[in-house]
Amino acid sequence: MPLNDSDMGTITAQIQLTEAELKLLQTLVYQECGMYFDERRSHFLKDRLQRRLKACQLDSFYGYYRLLTSREGKQELALLLENLTVNETSFFRNKPQLELLQKSVLEELLHHKQERRDWNLRVWSAGCSSGQEPYSVAMLICDALAYYYLRNPLPFDVPLPKPLIPPPWKLEILASDISYAALRTGQEGLYTEVQMEPVDYTARLRYFEKSADKYSAKPTLKELVQFDFHNLKTEFLPRRNDIILCRNVMIYFDEPEQKRLVEKFWHCLNPAGYLFVGHAESLFGLSTKFRMIHHNNGTAYQRIEVSS
Ligand SMILES: C[S@@+](CC[C@H](N)C(=O)[O-])C[C@H]1O[C@@H](n2cnc3c(N)ncnc32)[C@H](O)[C@@H]1O
Repeated sequence: MPLNDSDMGTITAQIQLTEAELKLLQTLVYQECGMYFDERRSHFLKDRLQRRLKACQLDSFYGYYRLLTSREGKQELALLLENLTVNETSFFRNKPQLELLQKSVLEELLHHKQERRDWNLRVWSAGCSSGQEPYSVAMLICDALAYYYLRNPLPFDVPLPKPLIPPPWKLEILASDISYAALRTGQEGLYTEVQMEPVDYTARLRYFEKSADKYSAKPTLKELVQFDFHNLKTEFLPRRNDIILCRNVMIYFDEPEQKRLVEKFWHCLNPAGYLFVGHAESLFGLSTKFRMIHHNNGTAYQRIEVSS
């Protein structure tokens, strides 16, 4: 039943959440997005549920559950999931791993693609949060391509001013998340001085403009990254990727869901494509369809060709 203003005034204590209601809501969240709130994290779930219940002015969690599972509750369900995500991220997070991506993985990919005259490079940042990860990768790839052509000049003149991606190469970076707020921030590409701390001054000069007290990603950088909503729980995910980064996302899923996701990533990668997971994550016990690559504290996984 919706609460009225006087009710709201008198409610200072939290509305009781029974074990049965918690289980229902926990299961619903898991089914919708794969996030699993075990005992260690259930206080976070309870806190967010209390907040959403108040915002919806409802007086019971069962009523809230009924709202979430109704047709009219779709928007509220999206809001709840958004409130449950942890969006912590930073530019150039896990540097040793990104060095492995830039110095070994890209070098090899560019070489093999050039041999096959395949000039398309597709990267997917799955669970991109507010954009620092896909923009970091975009900068690394632009620099790697520029350096590659310093040593292996193209057989024709590149137009001036030199584009970030020398033709005939095409770079597509898909950045996806379940949080619309995070996607909007990424699309905007505006970052504070504190957020920019890991970005050195040469990268700031090449890829950003200063606008008031913030840094704004230059249009040439922004146009390389396409932000879009994708829920990793669903079956239909973007295919034909050379590289997938899904870092610090699987830690919020339980093991069966992690296994399902890694299997989906295998299908979403091109043959011999690469998967990058977070520094506290690994594919150990989740899949045998990838081989681990390790260099200078950086780790990645390469797809092995097996019959699926
Ligand atoms: C901790 S952030 C990691 C951001 C970035 N990958 C990094 O490592 O810096 C986790 C992100 O995963 C997203 N996420 C959680 N569950 C998801 C799902 N089912 N589908 C898509 N994104 C999800 C969250 O919204 C959040 O932005």
